[in-house]
Amino acid sequence: MENIEKVHLVVEEKYFPPKDIVEECIVKDYESMYEKSMQNPTEFWEEIASDLYWFEKWEKVLEWDFPRAKWFVGGKTNITYNCLDRHVKSGKRNKVAYIYVDEDRNEKKYTYGELLELVNRMANGLKSLGVQKGDRVSIYMPNTVEAIACMLACTRIGAIHSVVFAGFSEGALRLRIEDAKAKVVITSTYTKRRGKKIHLLETVKEAIKPLNFVERVVVWDRDGELDEEEIDNRMVKLDKLIDNSSPVCEPEVMDSEDPLFILYTSGTTGKPKGVLHTVGGYMVNTYLTTKTVFNIKEETVYWCTADIGWITGHSYIVYGPLANAATSLIMEGVPVYPHPGIWWEYIQKYRVNVFYTAPTAIRMLMRFGEDIPAKYDLSSLKILGSVGEPINPEAWLWYYKNVGRERAVVVDTWWQTETGAHMITTLPSYPAKPGKAGKPMFGVDPLVVDKEGNPLPPNTVGYLVIKKPWPSMLRTCWGEPERYEKYWKEIPGGYYSAGDLASIDEDGYIMILGRADDVLSVAGHRIGNAEVESAIVEHPAVAEAAVIGKPNEIKGESIKAFVILKAGSVPSDKLVEEIKDTVREVLGAIAVPDEVEFVDKLPKTRSGKIMRRVLRARELGQELGDTSTLED
Ligand code: PRX
Repeated sequence: MENIEKVHLVVEEKYFPPKDIVEECIVKDYESMYEKSMQNPTEFWEEIASDLYWFEKWEKVLEWDFPRAKWFVGGKTNITYNCLDRHVKSGKRNKVAYIYVDEDRNEKKYTYGELLELVNRMANGLKSLGVQKGDRVSIYMPNTVEAIACMLACTRIGAIHSVVFAGFSEGALRLRIEDAKAKVVITSTYTKRRGKKIHLLETVKEAIKPLNFVERVVVWDRDGELDEEEIDNRMVKLDKLIDNSSPVCEPEVMDSEDPLFILYTSGTTGKPKGVLHTVGGYMVNTYLTTKTVFNIKEETVYWCTADIGWITGHSYIVYGPLANAATSLIMEGVPVYPHPGIWWEYIQKYRVNVFYTAPTAIRMLMRFGEDIPAKYDLSSLKILGSVGEPINPEAWLWYYKNVGRERAVVVDTWWQTETGAHMITTLPSYPAKPGKAGKPMFGVDPLVVDKEGNPLPPNTVGYLVIKKPWPSMLRTCWGEPERYEKYWKEIPGGYYSAGDLASIDEDGYIMILGRADDVLSVAGHRIGNAEVESAIVEHPAVAEAAVIGKPNEIKGESIKAFVILKAGSVPSDKLVEEIKDTVREVLGAIAVPDEVEFVDKLPKTRSGKIMRRVLRARELGQELGDTSTLED
């Protein structure tokens, strides 16, 4: 972790929620519920977990053997039973679970009954391919209900899904399939973006060429356009699997601590980490946070604009909303196509009550002006969520005024792939402060400390840590337990170190200032500096590279790369484009640098570590800070 250098605009104004919203809130008295979760966690979590169905009740709520936690020890359940069967059995068979929409205004609704049947057929189909409990299945699919059904089909039978965002390149996909040693990969012929088809099957075919352990590739042939010759002996069509399988599939009895899924996320080294979540604690906490932060009721229409390829999609498109029997919108496409009011059009059309998106999207839509949202009836909105990066007060206020029309409340939710569920957020029942995430969620005990783990006074920026285990915390990094331990050992005191900078004010509101480590946040996507650097050096002309993040009005951060060429190579615009293409191929479009600068030397410590901090300070015209370890 490098030094603390970030400064933020602080808006001290409080925005009180309207009375009618507070009256409707499931949690009206945050303080006393939080107090209970801290003073009497066993009773607190037992009550929450009892809302859900368990084949066998747990014996103990928590077993904490630092830094390993087990939650709902001995409990047996299946998350799909809680997300689907439980609702179907209680009279919600015909309730709509998802409304799928796309850029062409196509719409398809799926009821809880239909989704259960689809999941069961897929689950039986996976079984027929030899997939068993504990096997890994990689999913590289468009943001559709079919993809959700694939995830649920895995968890129905106890297989561990590993969803890979369908914007990742062949190289990034291969790395994730290889690391998880997936037996089966599920994909689709294409996804749609900005009116164009993006081929996914071809990427999968290339990615798995050298991977002999991948036994089967299941393909959703969306338009029935695959020729028989294109189907090799590893491939099987999803429709065939569904048609040939029974609609009944008993849910696998899963232990609370059985693995649920792996999701790769960026760290400070070149290799992403496979964050592992387990069944019981993740289920309970995504259920609780969705219910209380978004105030999900019988009639609520909810829309999270994330992609299922990220943790926000896992927890707040799939598991949390389904556990609450919500009706959700899911969209395949981008926010500005076919026009920059498409989101507002859908909110108006479906009378969406809860809308959850990222600051980068808000800032992008702000550019088109307030006249665009003004054209739509957005009066159904009650809660506006934000996630993925700090929301600057300007964007917060734009969202509040032009989307929420000062009638809806803004909840800024801070959390991570590793935390599984919301950790720090405003609840709709108490006032929000623009630019500040809010207060800790139930059972979460945060603290801001210095490098040595000493607590810092209010309004002082330091490292954000969490003092105690929580139910939806990651259990390990797949195949790399030492990386898991690092979270708990980075800062003395036995805390979970989030890798973020934060400060806490006198009212207990927490402001998140961004990453404290070598991880970038570009348009809300988490990308390791080292990941981009190792992609760049794959270009044959490159000897060495260093990457920094620069403040960017829309994306939060943009990537700048400093590149040393090998002897004999000459800087040119063509080379810049080639380097960008290399990153696009190795990682995907989201990681491509905006700027590439050729240099002769990089600032390094005497032990040879690149000092990105120095590069960044120089680039931004800031003080260089402590340079005593600089080699030269
Ligand atoms: O830096 C924080 C930022 O996103 C990081 C986690 O990224 P990821 O695991 O990809 O999960 C993103 C979606 C939960 C955090 O370490 N972050 C996330 N939410 C916020 C945020 N920063 C400020 N405010 C937030 N609300």
